[in-house]
Amino acid sequence: MLKGTMSVDGAGHLVIGGCDAVELAHRYGTPLYVLDEHLVRQRAQDYREAFGKFVPGSQVLYAGKALLTTALCKIIAEEDLGLDVVSGGELYTALAAGFPSQRIYFHGNNKSHQELSMALDHRIGRIVIDSAWELEALQTLAASRGDIADILIRITPGVEPSTHSYIQTGQFDSKFGLPINAKDTLSTIVQASRMPNLRLRGLHCHIGSQIMGLEYFTKTVKIMVAFLAELRASAGLVLEELDLGGGLGITYLDQDEPPSPGDYAKAIGDAITTSCREHDLAVPRIAVEPGRSIVGEAGVTLYTVGAIKEVSGVRKYVAIDGGMADNPRVAIYGAKYTACLANKAAGEPIELVTIAGKCCESGDILIKDIMLPVVETGDILAVCSTGAYNYSMASNYNRLPRPAMVTVWHGESDIIVQRETYEDLIRLDRVPARLLENQPVLAGGQRGT
Ligand code: LLP
Repeated sequence: MLKGTMSVDGAGHLVIGGCDAVELAHRYGTPLYVLDEHLVRQRAQDYREAFGKFVPGSQVLYAGKALLTTALCKIIAEEDLGLDVVSGGELYTALAAGFPSQRIYFHGNNKSHQELSMALDHRIGRIVIDSAWELEALQTLAASRGDIADILIRITPGVEPSTHSYIQTGQFDSKFGLPINAKDTLSTIVQASRMPNLRLRGLHCHIGSQIMGLEYFTKTVKIMVAFLAELRASAGLVLEELDLGGGLGITYLDQDEPPSPGDYAKAIGDAITTSCREHDLAVPRIAVEPGRSIVGEAGVTLYTVGAIKEVSGVRKYVAIDGGMADNPRVAIYGAKYTACLANKAAGEPIELVTIAGKCCESGDILIKDIMLPVVETGDILAVCSTGAYNYSMASNYNRLPRPAMVTVWHGESDIIVQRETYEDLIRLDRVPARLLENQPVLAGGQRGT
């Protein structure tokens, strides 16, 4: 359960990044997202080193959809990774943080005209084309501006990894990419290579997320390399880049055993060398886009325990001050998490409880059945592995302000996202004049009912 710099001190308190989690909760309030900066940097370095060693010349891009804030962009830039963005908002965040635009790749199955223009304005590294429709749209746009854009084309390789169906993306029946087996895919790629305002650099694919088996990645490499060989044979087209997407799983529960970035890099390196040799193809420049496996285990969410209710003979509900609004993954994917009491981290787990969120939904249960020391109101619950797809997917459901986020680093904590206030919640609300006091709503001055 203890990851990165996490430990338990003499007082039985959970410590992260040298900071007492109980003190963090009291100082910044709860719910609170805590990010172990050391672990984020460590993971980024593990990736860089492993890919540098096993896949020479490759590039590691952090997938910002997992978690993106301006401070995190700075950390990722300092660690020398590239960045995968998937919307104008993510691109804006990266640019606002001064992230080098040449190291940014832009994904998405429906980028708007405005988003594509923004990508061209800032001369980002690669635009990943998701459909024949987008190819035409970008060519037209780039030509109208006299720009030349570097592109990759996204392919669905027909690999279905074992993971939740909502986060499988490599199957043919997918809203993403061009199916590798479709008749017109090859001709679309050839057409792209001839477009005057686009420079086709290579192909992209991404098979899914939270994948524990390396065999799915190696199978994808084989399929994609065979396809590159087919492109060369049938159209004389040699593409120099192959972006394999992200997807490496992480530990949520103690029994989860994901491969390390080193295992992953080695598997990809071996598969690419073997496949390219088989097809007598020069090894393309590989890129990968890990998101979850860089930030996921570095995140811990702290909550304060409020109401405790026992349904006699059924279960004991322990309610916390957050839930599906700050972590929707349980409600959406049935995700499983583990937790501890930050103020009783050395205590024996002796009672079976269910952790309930505070949203108005019976489905807002964060953890069903977990053994904890005797839980009391005011205890601080620390839910582990919440760094990825929690803050980035958080909502204001029930008009709950989104929590703050702090980094912890060598005993220091810094706010990187401020807690939302009630004022923030109504900041964008507008009241039409006819609803304002003393404004007649209907002709004749009568108010509607
Ligand atoms: N590249 C592309 C094109 C992607 O679509 C994704 C994730 C990644 C990279 C990063 O994948 P990762 O290394 O983080 O697995 N909300 C879901 C996960 C959705 C993943 C979407 N795409 C969840 O909470 O499990």
